[in-house]
Amino acid sequence: MKKSIEEILEDTRRVLDIIQKTELTDEEKVWISESAVSNFNDYVNPGFLKYRKSVSNDYTAVEWSDHGCRFLDMHGRSYIDCLGGYGTLNMGHRHPNIVAAVKAQLDRQAIHSQELLDPLRGILSKLLADITPGDLQYSFLTSSGTEAVEGALKLARLHTGRRNYIAAVDGFHGKSMGSLGATAKAEFRRAFLPLVPAFHHVPFGDLSMLEKTLWSLDKVGEEVAAVVLEPIQGEGGVNLPPDGYLKGVRALCNRYGCLLILDEIQTGMGRTGKLWASEHWGVVPDILCIGKSFGGGIMPAGAFMSNATIWQKMIPNPFLHSSTFGGNPLACAAAIAAIHVTLSENLPEKAAVTGAHFLKELQQLSCAFPDILVAVRGKGLMIGMEFPDDDIGFEVARGLYDRGVLVAGTMLNAQVIRIEPPLTIPLDDVNRVVEILHETLLAVQAGRGMPASSSKRSVPRKKNKQ
Ligand SMILES: Cc1ncc(COP(=O)(O)O)c(C=O)c1O
Repeated sequence: MKKSIEEILEDTRRVLDIIQKTELTDEEKVWISESAVSNFNDYVNPGFLKYRKSVSNDYTAVEWSDHGCRFLDMHGRSYIDCLGGYGTLNMGHRHPNIVAAVKAQLDRQAIHSQELLDPLRGILSKLLADITPGDLQYSFLTSSGTEAVEGALKLARLHTGRRNYIAAVDGFHGKSMGSLGATAKAEFRRAFLPLVPAFHHVPFGDLSMLEKTLWSLDKVGEEVAAVVLEPIQGEGGVNLPPDGYLKGVRALCNRYGCLLILDEIQTGMGRTGKLWASEHWGVVPDILCIGKSFGGGIMPAGAFMSNATIWQKMIPNPFLHSSTFGGNPLACAAAIAAIHVTLSENLPEKAAVTGAHFLKELQQLSCAFPDILVAVRGKGLMIGMEFPDDDIGFEVARGLYDRGVLVAGTMLNAQVIRIEPPLTIPLDDVNRVVEILHETLLAVQAGRGMPASSSKRSVPRKKNKQ
């Protein structure tokens, strides 16, 4: 140890006292803000501070509390959350029913013995079978999205006895060694090559390319275990599939005897206006991956699921795949409450209605500022705004942030900014965000000396999709 036990106890006591407090002194606020910056710099990764400058120049916001569709920084400044933890907060920040369920569970039991039968894991798995499409039945519960994808990839190999996978360019499935194989971004992969071998990537939405790849691999004896896709690509820039694409993929998988893994980690739990995005196109995957909002924005939780046939080889040895914390009682309580809230508050329908309004308003702004906001697209409350380049995207994100709205680019790039607020966001907040965006676009236009566009707000632009 680099410090004495007494010093460590003094440090931990100070923080534990602060965590217990509802009101902080000015001195404590300054200490927390300053120590957050220096600790990130010295002990987490100084790169974060540079990256976070994208939304903050002269004011470092340290997030401290949250509720509903907003969060507050250490100094009490309130922000409308249009990022929603990249799809983690569909039910809002600290939904009271989900908090209550987790608190009650915490007061009884937090982590399971690992040896006896823990009932909530069974109950949640049954619930998942009840709310997912088709014949999906068995679940393996995880603590993150990437673990769900890892398990799905293993299951596909186990069932088919094949080792090749096909994923999509611009897809994102996580960053552990296996899931990173499916993830398509060169920046994330290059330094770690070779990854798990036998991943092939084809353009998203291009059915004929997928068919040719399946055909070629089949021809040379490299049969494909699974095609792995997000129904709508999130990190890749909110890319919607052409109509008929997912159905076509399903048919090709059937024809070539490979499995379809749908990664609904970001699109699931009502985000796109249906409980599962695959329902928009009536497609049932062989393996479904779930995460993010599955934990109700309170606990980390994920899952991969499949039908009884595909699960068969997991049954003789249930420890072929395992996780210490996956499906722990707190995570299960959160996920059960998240499902209850999603259905009882009709959140998929809310996402559809609020999302359609938001999209329409944003498309009108795109018409009014065609040189800045070049396209708007989305489904439900999964919306992307596209700018001519990364710099303009950052400028807009920063302008929104300075005016009290949090959004974010896609990973490493702000050319597309994502809007993924809690599905509970009231229309008043949506309208306020649209007003603030309008102000921001005017400021960017003026700051760059661009000519003021003539107002064409009622004419939808061709580039905008759905
Ligand atoms: C579609 C998709 N799959 C997988 C992941 C990885 O999830 P996690 O970060 O929980 O490991 C993400 C995270 O952004 C995602 O959006």
